[in-house]
Amino acid sequence: MTGNTQDFPGKAPPDGGALPFIYPPTAANIQFFSDALLRRELVAIPTETVYGLAANALDASAAGSIFEIKGRPLVDPLILHLHRPEAAVQLAFLPEPFFRLAEAFWPGPLTLILRKKPLVPDIITAGKETVALRIPAHPVTQSLLECVGCPLAAPSANPFGYVSPTTAKHVADSFGSRLPYILDGGACRIGLESTILDLSKPGQESILRPGAVPAEALAKVFGHPVPYHEKRAPCARPATAPGMFSRHYSPRTTLQLVKEAGSLKTESDTARIFLKAPETGQRNSPHHYWLSERGDPLEMAQSLFSLLRRIDQAGYGRIVCEVPPAGETGILRAVRDRLLRAASV
Ligand code: TXA
Ligand code: MG
Repeated sequence: MTGNTQDFPGKAPPDGGALPFIYPPTAANIQFFSDALLRRELVAIPTETVYGLAANALDASAAGSIFEIKGRPLVDPLILHLHRPEAAVQLAFLPEPFFRLAEAFWPGPLTLILRKKPLVPDIITAGKETVALRIPAHPVTQSLLECVGCPLAAPSANPFGYVSPTTAKHVADSFGSRLPYILDGGACRIGLESTILDLSKPGQESILRPGAVPAEALAKVFGHPVPYHEKRAPCARPATAPGMFSRHYSPRTTLQLVKEAGSLKTESDTARIFLKAPETGQRNSPHHYWLSERGDPLEMAQSLFSLLRRIDQAGYGRIVCEVPPAGETGILRAVRDRLLRAASV
């Protein structure tokens, strides 16, 4: 885990170290972060998917600063993070499948879109009638949510459009001293954002963003398949589509997707990313990278954003990356989705 193992409640790091400061998740620091949130400060928090940039969701002005620091358009609504499913009662109208889904997948990487109640500030939902809710599965953020006692609005803790962060250091790299409070929870277990399921129209449930809770698992709860339309242009329906700007999760380096990277000619200004470790002959090039040693889908998800950031810093002119084929199931569908968006212009 990054950072020092001391507590620094309420004061600057004792060695006068440069901001931002990454706080280890001790009980005193969790209390300190909770107090900071109640003072309207923004803090970065670990989740099992990606790090979030959190504010008290019931305070419109605190939530407003999230948009400012991220450079996020006000038309892009935020997800609320809760400690317990019961907290949703105050925030949204809960249709029949809500508690069954909560029972099956919470805490975990599933975000539910529901019709909102007036308590949720309009800035959170970008003026929409619906609100996004989830219970994250990270124990550090669970403790923080319990301590602070209010829902936390938290988008991924990256500048708008850039690759999401999966370590505390990624957050520090992006925001520097503009975001002094980062709570360290280690590397994210999943590494890709939550699955988003729209429950706001009874009988017309649909997946808006694929994630670690796959369509197949949702279908079991509903007793029928739940649609996800990859082909629906993300910017065509800004009112409902998450990540609605088609370019999203993008490294600064130009990214080109290919079915199979092994046959390409090696060029020193091009980083090549394989989904799984290539044959011996290909392994030795310093410009060859892979998402997983043995082709394990969860490992591919975990390493995608981290690797894109690393390669972005290495100064290549171009990245060529293998993409899982259309029609993939499970978390590979999410890996494919993020790559298509990251490569889109
Ligand atoms: O795993 C995650 O979901 C992470 C962690 C931090 O929880 N959060 C995350 O937040 O990915 P963000 O803001 O980067 O992505 C949330 C997406 C946005 O694309 C937004 O458009 C969509 O959720 N969203 C939020 N509220 C919505 C709503 N009422 N209707 C439709 N989409 C919504
Ligand atoms: Mg995001």
